[in-house]
Amino acid sequence: MPFLGTENAFSVISKAKKFEREELAPKGEKLVYLQIGEPAFDTPENIKQAAIRAIQGGQTHYTPSPGIPELRKIIAEKTSPRYCAKYNMEDVVVMPAAKSVMFHMINALIDPEDEVIIPNPGFPIYESVVNYLGGTTVPLPLLEEKDFNFNLDDLTKLITQKTKLIIINSPQNPTGGVLTKETLEGMAKLCMENDLWVLSDEIYDQIIYEGSHISITSFPGMPERTVILNGCSKSYAMTGWRLGWAVTKNQPMAQYLEQLIINDVSCTNAATQFAAMEALTGPQDAVAMMREEYRKRRDLLVALVNEIPGMSCRTPKGAFYLFVNVKPILQKLGMNSSEFADRILREAHVVILPGTAFGIHGEGYIRFSYVSSEGDIKEGLKRMKEYVKNM
Ligand SMILES: Cc1ncc(COP(=O)(O)O)c(C=O)c1O
Repeated sequence: MPFLGTENAFSVISKAKKFEREELAPKGEKLVYLQIGEPAFDTPENIKQAAIRAIQGGQTHYTPSPGIPELRKIIAEKTSPRYCAKYNMEDVVVMPAAKSVMFHMINALIDPEDEVIIPNPGFPIYESVVNYLGGTTVPLPLLEEKDFNFNLDDLTKLITQKTKLIIINSPQNPTGGVLTKETLEGMAKLCMENDLWVLSDEIYDQIIYEGSHISITSFPGMPERTVILNGCSKSYAMTGWRLGWAVTKNQPMAQYLEQLIINDVSCTNAATQFAAMEALTGPQDAVAMMREEYRKRRDLLVALVNEIPGMSCRTPKGAFYLFVNVKPILQKLGMNSSEFADRILREAHVVILPGTAFGIHGEGYIRFSYVSSEGDIKEGLKRMKEYVKNM
């Protein structure tokens, strides 16, 4: 499997845990974890209860492969107004993870030698899956000076006869950037002109701090050539439940995704689907509470980072990540961002991710996540400030 990549976040965490167990625990010391990409909140109680009721009520069997009809209907109804298109139940395919949408959609579409334009820095699994299937990834640079949007001219230059798919992610992991209406509108035009597909990863669509979420599906002709990737993991603190969904107005694509699910897992866990129905139709105050808590932690982290000489960042508009420019420090030390992240782990005892865990254009940056408690954010940044001062 020479082309299959991975998600570095998982290897960094096991390296950090080993280091903590072997080197720090004997001295009574601990690491501060500021790299975690999942809500630290517990799943809201009403959602847990819905799953318990489903199991006790005998919902322990296979469900229809594309998902329980009632859940698909709810997803279609919730998606339509926010994504400015009229989606029906048939346009929704429920899967055991948002990540499965990525794998199956790319699998459905990409033949060897097809080119796929992917955001860089971006979620590493896009590149891994495309390469695994014999496609070629073409990195589209996200620019700090454009609030981590991309230049439409850059995108135009990357489109060739072989381009089949563009993957976007807004709000983004790892930058926290949100694609603007102008960027999306320009990109939609290019997709129509060049007959391109879009995989639009909108898993953070409810974690947005300014204005409302805009999707590429808002533009004419796009719902028919776009697969929306979404799920409950991030907005409802449900990462361990494993459930995601694909939404598309392209029926052959929806049917092919369903067929892939039949071949792969038959269906998604039944109780989890009942939990998702409650998440989507029950009270939404937990979502708002978590978002407001992230906003406070974001503002704290941004302020503390900008106090450290050689580090700078913008205030991200969405998700729960901060992509910090550390170029002056790297230049001074003569190291790359991966070596710097490793030093911070071993010498400052804080776990962060190097920007290059998200692609070549992440060089010069480190990624923090701000799902951690205020106490951990303060302690981690205190350690880093002290460490950088004495470097
Ligand atoms: C951009 C992005 N897309 C998709 C996923 C995967 O979501 P899930 O855990 O629901 O499969 C993640 C998880 O970190 C992510 O950051």
